[in-house]
Amino acid sequence: MPLFKRAPAGDAEGYVATVPAAAVTEDEMTIVRVAGKKVILTRRAGRLYAIDSACPHGAADLSEGSLRRGRLCCHEHDYCFDVATGLLVWPDDEPYRLRRYDVKEEDGVVKVRPAR
Ligand code: FES
Repeated sequence: MPLFKRAPAGDAEGYVATVPAAAVTEDEMTIVRVAGKKVILTRRAGRLYAIDSACPHGAADLSEGSLRRGRLCCHEHDYCFDVATGLLVWPDDEPYRLRRYDVKEEDGVVKVRPAR
């Protein structure tokens, strides 16, 4: 019996299989782990997004925040980000951006490519 669980291997392009595509729905957060990182999966206007769960402002867990109409808001200081662009929408005078990963849907599965 192995003493540790091996991380799933990525495909030829480095994408790692996560959850069935049907598990990721519009304006809802589906939380997965990819290469040791907590990642938020969601859809906006039908498009798939994979977002690092660490808030770029102060590293709070964005999965504990809220997601509504494409706005992901952090519970710590209420900063809000546009999921589609990654840009900060409130406050609008700071340079923070969401860290997003390449993501695709293939054979009914959501696959994420962790940063290199
Ligand atoms: S840590 Fe997220 S807004 Fe400050």
